[in-house]
Amino acid sequence: MATEPAAAARRVIDIITGTWQAQALYAAVAISLPDHIAAGHTGTAELADRSGTDRDALTRLLRLLTAMGVCTGSEEAGYGLTEVGELLRGEHPHAMGDMVRLYGEEFHRAWGSVADVVRTGGSGFEHAHGRSLHEHLRDVPGAGAKFQRAMNAGNVFFPGVLDAFDFGRCRRVVDVAGGSGMLLSVVLQAHPQLHGTLFERPFMVPVAREYLDKTVGDDGRYETVGGDLFERVPQGADAYLLSRVLQDWDDERCVRLLANIRAALPPEGRLLILERVIDTSGATILPLLWDLHLLMAAGGRERTLDGYRSVLTAAGLRLESVHSLALETSLLIAARA
Ligand SMILES: C[S@@+](CC[C@H](N)C(=O)[O-])C[C@H]1O[C@@H](n2cnc3c(N)ncnc32)[C@H](O)[C@@H]1O
Repeated sequence: MATEPAAAARRVIDIITGTWQAQALYAAVAISLPDHIAAGHTGTAELADRSGTDRDALTRLLRLLTAMGVCTGSEEAGYGLTEVGELLRGEHPHAMGDMVRLYGEEFHRAWGSVADVVRTGGSGFEHAHGRSLHEHLRDVPGAGAKFQRAMNAGNVFFPGVLDAFDFGRCRRVVDVAGGSGMLLSVVLQAHPQLHGTLFERPFMVPVAREYLDKTVGDDGRYETVGGDLFERVPQGADAYLLSRVLQDWDDERCVRLLANIRAALPPEGRLLILERVIDTSGATILPLLWDLHLLMAAGGRERTLDGYRSVLTAAGLRLESVHSLALETSLLIAARA
């Protein structure tokens, strides 16, 4: 059935203004608005004073954030935070402000090049910033830590891995390109018999070590190893974790890094891959959004299940099972072919 013209026009407007909502959320985080509200400053005048902002502009931002379900209240009654707004407080245990910052700054600029990238291929980040995301993380002071904090904010699907895979029979686990160490930390905290290794590029290791010391403890239960997964990965663990890594690379690079894991994997070992799987029916939109986002951010991609199967097979591995996790993410368990 044809869509009514007004409804179709409304849909176009909703899509166009979606990016304004994201940037309004970013503005709120950039001026620490959720923290000021949580500290008890609820009137526009005192909020403008605390955040060093223009009162009229702030009033309009607060009105919009309220309509978006981030704030509660009104100009007359004062403003509060909804459950969504609470997630943007710096001190919230699952704080997402760092993710909002990265997406509102570096990635927002990268998306500005989307039409160029669709015409020519390549990465939006390189178009906009003049260097790749990986070079940016390596070369710009503080960029790596900001990225790791942002990755943590989107990690609500990590605990689901514990239900989908039995770590009880494992003694050693390696988190390949483990980022901030959050996934390894979740696994080690749930399974005290496990020893963990976090493998990352050397300049990313300090943030991971700090996080693991804080959450797991500095008692020899884990080690960090700096290196390049395109050369080799630590040998002989019962379980290898590979979370949101294949997404950054083309098929050839994926096969290379997977072959290195295959070479390190004992016969009974398992590889646990966390990625979004594209459903070509279009039933789930997050993997499709992230697929284009990865082109903008790292020149990478999400894959269909056949796409993952194909790179695994080329590396001498086989896909054993697939499990759904939160936020339309999947756990793919692979073994030696
Ligand atoms: C998208 S992040 C995922 C981090 C983490 N696994 C997670 O899910 O939060 C990709 C990670 O790959 C790491 N990485 C990129 N190239 C690498 C290389 N050649 N060797 C080791 N790690 C690398 C990056 O430093 C980054 O932390």
